[in-house]
Amino acid sequence: MRAIDVIQEKRDGHTHSTDVIHAFIAAYTAGQVPDYQVSAWLMAVYFRGMTPRETADLTMALAQSGELLDLARYGARSADKHSTGGVGDKTSLVAAPLAAAAGAKVAKMSGRGLSHTGGTVDKLESIAGLRTTLTREEFDRQVDEVGLVVAGQSGDLAPADKLLYALRDVTATVDSLPLIAASIMSKKLAAGAHNIVLDVKAGSGAFMKTPEQAVDLARAMVDIGEHAGRRVVALISDMEQPLGHAVGNALEVEEAVRTLRGAGPDDLTEIAVALASEMVAQTHDRRGLEAARIAVKDALRSGAGLRKLRAMVMAQGGQWDREDGMPELPEPSPVREVWRAPVDGWVRGVDALAVGRAAALSGAGRERKDEAVDPRAGVLLHRRVGDACRAGEALATVYASDGGRLQSALAQLEGAFTLGEQAGSAKQIILARVDHAGVVWRDARHS
Ligand code: URA
Repeated sequence: MRAIDVIQEKRDGHTHSTDVIHAFIAAYTAGQVPDYQVSAWLMAVYFRGMTPRETADLTMALAQSGELLDLARYGARSADKHSTGGVGDKTSLVAAPLAAAAGAKVAKMSGRGLSHTGGTVDKLESIAGLRTTLTREEFDRQVDEVGLVVAGQSGDLAPADKLLYALRDVTATVDSLPLIAASIMSKKLAAGAHNIVLDVKAGSGAFMKTPEQAVDLARAMVDIGEHAGRRVVALISDMEQPLGHAVGNALEVEEAVRTLRGAGPDDLTEIAVALASEMVAQTHDRRGLEAARIAVKDALRSGAGLRKLRAMVMAQGGQWDREDGMPELPEPSPVREVWRAPVDGWVRGVDALAVGRAAALSGAGRERKDEAVDPRAGVLLHRRVGDACRAGEALATVYASDGGRLQSALAQLEGAFTLGEQAGSAKQIILARVDHAGVVWRDARHS
């Protein structure tokens, strides 16, 4: 196989064989194909696309480039959950403990935030003492003893995806459906869970800007999972406005804990309960989705989900003294400013992308992979879509690492809020459900 032939084949709109895809990825991982040739191939894929079979082959080639975890000893009870990335998306911190409290064995590897989207590992690391780098033995022991582990991705999990993702990031080839589907699913397959629940975001703060694009991505990922013998369900959820009120690492952990106490925002509670119910339903063959939902709501009402999160935090070295208190988190930064409504009105829109960028600029995010994040930074929304406000009332507070970052974040918030003279309707959070049987739309436009 010559790399130039592979590039030419895709450039001319042909389909790669399984062998070609595996050989090309193996050669790249071994350092035998230079970045400039892989970049050319990525651009050809970006324009020509891939068939479902090619996408499945690429996924397997990426997954098999490193270690493949084996969770077979949990049979059908192992569960994983993944979000395609959003703003204020602390869903894993709520859904995973609820699912574990209702009987699933949740073994989750999470990523760090990049660009305007946050990452669960950064959020968890706001808690004093908490470690997200676990040895394989620690990871396994925690699944056995606590039933819930959320760790950073081990370096040897799908290393070819790591290489390819970094190249896509600098060659404008990230937002290609087959490349995103293969990238996400390669890590999920390598992480070993039998059951996978995906939260595919749609809207300004997400990779997929429309619900239709999100459904196409979800379909591709469900198909890949089915080919690999895993059970995959995807919910499509709204990311036009941030999820909940808090955007930023420690702020989001606090909101997640309040949600597990039953006092969280409605949209976060709804999507977390829905995702956890799907996880539990997948892991218990004889219980349907409705029974799973009852078990998950019980775990929320009784505090069992909260206790599960605390057990996980403490098992990973995090400090959380009293069950009725908070884990040990830094105070929000004293460098702060309130963003106020210029006129009386109703909030008609809160642009997730603008708020996500403001939070990243405040210090909560990173622009390069090796930068540290500031757990005390972020944006707290006081008003969301559907709320009324009077001129001069607070719409949001920005907490920043320093004065320069505060000014950049405030400039980014300009235009993030759309105010109107009449109340708009509140947003629906779950837009569709996708599994092997097809798509069920839940939003008014499609049903
Ligand atoms: N998340 C990933 O892991 N990969 C992508 O390509 C996009 C989002």
